Amino acid sequence: MTIRTVPLHIAGDTVTTGEWLDVADKYRGDVAARVARAGADEVERAIASAHAARGAMAAFPPDARRDVLEHCVRRFEERREELAGLLCIEAGKPIRDSRGEVDRLIDTFRIAAGEATRIGGEVLELQVSPRARGFRGMTRRMPIGACSLITPFNFPLNLVAHKVAPAIAAGCPFVLKPSERTPLGALVIGEVLAETDLPRGAFSVVVCDTETSAPLVEDPRIAFLSFTGGPVGWDLRARAGRKKVALELGGNAACIVDADPGVPLDHLVKRLVFGAYYQSGQSCISVQRIIAHESIASRLSDALARAVRALKAGDPHDESTDIGPVIDEASAKRIAEWVDEARAGGARVLVEGRRDGTMVTPGLLADVPRDCRLYREEVFGPVALIETVDSFDAAIERANDTHYGLQCGVFTARLDHAMRAWDRLEVGGVVVGDVPSVRVDKMPYGGVKDSGIGREGVRSTIEEMTEVRLLVLRDPLSE
Ligand code: SIN
Repeated sequence: MTIRTVPLHIAGDTVTTGEWLDVADKYRGDVAARVARAGADEVERAIASAHAARGAMAAFPPDARRDVLEHCVRRFEERREELAGLLCIEAGKPIRDSRGEVDRLIDTFRIAAGEATRIGGEVLELQVSPRARGFRGMTRRMPIGACSLITPFNFPLNLVAHKVAPAIAAGCPFVLKPSERTPLGALVIGEVLAETDLPRGAFSVVVCDTETSAPLVEDPRIAFLSFTGGPVGWDLRARAGRKKVALELGGNAACIVDADPGVPLDHLVKRLVFGAYYQSGQSCISVQRIIAHESIASRLSDALARAVRALKAGDPHDESTDIGPVIDEASAKRIAEWVDEARAGGARVLVEGRRDGTMVTPGLLADVPRDCRLYREEVFGPVALIETVDSFDAAIERANDTHYGLQCGVFTARLDHAMRAWDRLEVGGVVVGDVPSVRVDKMPYGGVKDSGIGREGVRSTIEEMTEVRLLVLRDPLSE
């Protein structure tokens, strides 16, 4: 079989460098494609071109930005099955989840197309005292300049979309560095952008190792760094100098189940199983900790265990597969080690997850000691924990017992409990009536505590990528 080779996109050119990076099929383990590897020269050229293109991008009119984004929507729709197939190969994502991610990619670009012509400002009354007679103000949002966009392996299309589409809508040139483990989807996005009339130099997609990409973090010509990934984000921020930084760094999300959850047990189980095991738990908002009221915990545990045992793990290309591999063997081993540690500490295993290479079958544990890594850290694998509390307030306290704070889910029939959850949960988003794992691509999305800073979601990212510029008008004859 011939292995497909894929070039980079640097400042309007497709580029090969003579150095190649093998991209593995994450289930079969063989090489699926070879991607040109960027070196220091390509990274420099990408940054210099993005910096030089900032005036042209700012002047590229909003309706033209919208047309670029709409072109992308059309092309992604036409290439939907191909894109889903790529995700299935490079991320090992089950084909049904892969199609769902392509649909989200399309949604995100469509939302950005709408926002491109809606970036507005404010009219300000400034006459606050006799000294300020005759003053009025107006604000508008100006593109911040060149952006570095660094994305992880778990959503190779949609997390790229959440940075690229707002950058185009906002009028910012960018250099995108996708995960080296899953660069293929991002390179197709680059291919589609190359079909548009974006100003030359406005975008580059570079695939390289962390060391080579250091200038994307440190170079002062970059005005904004947007990073999604792990705790290393805090180190990037420390090295970023004066540039603005947004970080989305994951979590160990809780889902609270109240005494009356407000939904039938089978619905609750269905949503928890989705939230905890969807794409092998490799989502920053995967349900990790289920915190259930004692009056429902035992029925819920039994029903959950039955549903988890029924999940089908295996080849992600198979239409009936629920659980594919995790991203690599090191991650699979780490997950198994954390489970063993929890068991040794006294946890009860309700469903045993088994590891074979990169495959980890779904696991469910109860009474996990709260000092175990499985409880405290982000597991990023198909494992969920269930624990019991005797009141709704205790559940909130338990949910907050973490150094993370991205999203929390709450199932409750009581409005006062829903409001209390919104008031007291230390997270970026509270989801009442569903699991924390849901994300509508329009909503503000991001965390507090170690989960990061800044918000994504198209409009929020546009705000991060633009700066307010004020115009003051004075009636010179006013007194
Ligand atoms: C993430 O894992 O960071 C994003 C989750 C999502 O977009 O659904």
